[in-house]
Amino acid sequence: MSVDAQAVDAASEPVEVGAPRCAIVRLRVHCFRNYPEATVHLGPGLNVIHGQNAQGKTNLLEAIATLALTRSPRTTTSADLLLWNEDAALAEADVARPPADVTLTLRFQRDPSTGRVSRVTAVDGKPRPARAILGVCPVVLFWPEDLALVRGGPDGRRRFLDVILAQTDPPSVAHMSRYRRVLEQRNALLHQLRLGGGARDSLNSFTSELAQHGAWLGVARSRLVESLAPLAALSLHDLSGERERISLRYAPVHVASIPESVEAAEQSLLDTLRQRASEEVARGMTLAGPHRDDVAFDLDGRAARGSASQGQQRSIVLACKLAEVRYLQDTAGVAPVILLDDVLSELDPERRGRLLALLAEGRHQVLVTTTEPLTEVAGFADVLHFTVRSGVVTQDERP
Ligand SMILES: Nc1ncnc2c1ncn2[C@@H]1O[C@H](COP(=O)(O)OP(=O)(O)OP(=O)(O)O)[C@@H](O)[C@H]1O
Ligand SMILES: [Mg+2]
Repeated sequence: MSVDAQAVDAASEPVEVGAPRCAIVRLRVHCFRNYPEATVHLGPGLNVIHGQNAQGKTNLLEAIATLALTRSPRTTTSADLLLWNEDAALAEADVARPPADVTLTLRFQRDPSTGRVSRVTAVDGKPRPARAILGVCPVVLFWPEDLALVRGGPDGRRRFLDVILAQTDPPSVAHMSRYRRVLEQRNALLHQLRLGGGARDSLNSFTSELAQHGAWLGVARSRLVESLAPLAALSLHDLSGERERISLRYAPVHVASIPESVEAAEQSLLDTLRQRASEEVARGMTLAGPHRDDVAFDLDGRAARGSASQGQQRSIVLACKLAEVRYLQDTAGVAPVILLDDVLSELDPERRGRLLALLAEGRHQVLVTTTEPLTEVAGFADVLHFTVRSGVVTQDERP
């Protein structure tokens, strides 16, 4: 889908001032990464977290993202989150948001016999499944690896979509985790078949299950990309005033586009998997499905990856992150919390200024980490400064 500059102009209204926001009032971490124990009282506007390298800036933002998403965006191994040599960790936040303030808790516990780390989630002190937390405190994390969204590998682009779906589309979360599990089982079987073992009969049932969950996920992602496309075009315009037309398209690996209905998408994936079964056995892996799909970015009708300049690619990335902010806001009905880890220094002063101005105008709570003192904070009514040193956070006394 593409949006021309005229449409962008028409749609380019500022984010509604006074829109309700979601803000973390208090964050507590215990034995989380390099924090033995810390409680931080955050402001509703801009929170600047300053510190030298390797002090715990990213770990603090990771704690918030892990709590909001119930999984770390940085590691798939929960054990990495526990302070070294500890068996339990906690991240907890008091979240102010309409219609009601809420306390979210995430605990990690190592089982002494198996060594496995499990997670327990609670809302207002009562145990609740992880899905009850997702979307309660919408967050947008923007960190250096996002800068490779256009030129990097497709896994970063898939993650970009899945993090949004996790916070906005509860059924997709269930399909996503079941898809992941059946993909693992199916790949293990294909690997065995390749080596001459395994039961070929089991492949059919794995294939049907994979197609069922894969179709749901493919359709959800494809619809999400359609919703993000005009928001990204609008954001590109707001950020740089550039006249280029940006378009986003979900690019499945096995068909030109995902059919609109889940049933048709399931049949299409099923047909492909059946046709390619021998090739899959020969290669010992699943060759089609959402784990291999991609997102195509075009700028003025050309693939951005091959033709856009570095600066243009960076503008597209920023536009996509702002589209994520706007989409979450529209869906959740509150302005999401913005976590900017180390990215401001990667942007030129003009883009940096525009990004902060847009976030201030949208009344977002923003947490920014930086190794250099941040001086341009114009637009934010409330600014708090913190210093992080070896897992200890202190609020700076500033006028
Ligand atoms: N599970 C853990 N237990 C204890 N320390 C950890 C754990 N995981 C990471 N660390 C340490 O935490 C420290 C701070 O990491 P973090 O990524 O937050 O640094 P940072 O302040 O963001 O630095 P930079 O400016 O380089 O990005 C690192 O020295 C890292 O080795
Ligand atoms: Mg860092």
